[in-house]
Amino acid sequence: MTTTLITNISEAFTSDSNHTLIRDAAILIRDEKIAWIGKSADAPAADTVIEAGYRAALPGWVDSHSHMVFAGDRSREFVARMAGQDYEAGGIAVTTAATRAASDYDLTRLVMGRAAEALAGGTTYLETKTGYGLSVEEEARHARIASTVVDQVTFLGAHLVPAGLDAQEYTDLVCGEMLQRVAPYVQYADVFCERGAFNEAQTRQVLSAARDAGLGLRVHGNQLGPGPGTQLAVEFGAASVDHVNFLDEADILALAGSWTAWDPATRSGAVGTVATCLPACDLSTRMPFAPGRELLDAGVQIALASNCNPGTSYTSSMAFCVTTAVLQMHLSIEEAIVAATYGGALALGVQDQVGTLEVGKRADIQLLNAPSVAHLAYRPGMNLSGPVFRAGKLVAGKI
Ligand code: NIG
Repeated sequence: MTTTLITNISEAFTSDSNHTLIRDAAILIRDEKIAWIGKSADAPAADTVIEAGYRAALPGWVDSHSHMVFAGDRSREFVARMAGQDYEAGGIAVTTAATRAASDYDLTRLVMGRAAEALAGGTTYLETKTGYGLSVEEEARHARIASTVVDQVTFLGAHLVPAGLDAQEYTDLVCGEMLQRVAPYVQYADVFCERGAFNEAQTRQVLSAARDAGLGLRVHGNQLGPGPGTQLAVEFGAASVDHVNFLDEADILALAGSWTAWDPATRSGAVGTVATCLPACDLSTRMPFAPGRELLDAGVQIALASNCNPGTSYTSSMAFCVTTAVLQMHLSIEEAIVAATYGGALALGVQDQVGTLEVGKRADIQLLNAPSVAHLAYRPGMNLSGPVFRAGKLVAGKI
């Protein structure tokens, strides 16, 4: 049972419910977990001491929404969008064709490369989705490959109805054979409830089938316009509804209602539906930002995630998402970090394991090449990622 002490931390932001910031901090790691955290001056002895060089520490990011299983390039679509073209769900089909054509070896390498980039940026817990396979064989293949690389996989067979297929027949396939084949590799199922993707009835069908299969639920909701996605997510007790750009008052009330039996001070009680905001996607699609400020003020737990995908958000930088949430969505730096750490963990149901710097949590710790966490927003666009520890081991960056 060896112990490691990370000492001479300028400040440690814990992401706990009090937004505790410990100045001149140290963290003791034992058996992959945080065993102690406090002032450097009070730190216990340890077998190994790591000198943080007066850098700030915070929990590793928990990225609860990404689509990393893909091949191909859609930069031309991005350029066209910047020239004024609207984002349309149909672009998914372009990636589906390229991804189907990729071998297991190539696809695995692509996912591993993206996961490594995320890790280097401080992401120590990563979810990713299927959704560029859209056939039984391909969705099962993508789920299997993803499950060998990331921490959690979400089944998103209901991402788009493939061209030439009848929407209802495809939804039946998603809810039947496809779900059965994919289920061993995934923890959650998701559905893109949007004009041009899946309607309310089809969304209900997918959520019911996934629930019956014992999977947790998510909804891609209210990304491109108003619609029933958010209310359906709450009705079905989904762990998260993601995007949430076009919410009306009733949507926000429904989300807030799902958190009434939750005590934010003790972080205990019944978990509601997390609203996952994806600011990098909002920028890249020139959509109105998700109303993160209003959601927080209404008592909704929110997450920030990268939505790393080739169509709407080709970045895995959680730091960029935090910066944008502060500068554009009017979150405080503390609120944004909590949303990108603890909030993501809540959305993934792993809040007892990761997402905060607290005794007993997995030692997922990132050091910033900066003396304070405020630098994340104060120095936009700068790469401040320093050493990253996952389960107490240095996995990226240099001490
Ligand atoms: O989260 N909304 C649906 N899915 C992705 C976009 C996928 C794509 O365009 O390739 C998203 O933005």
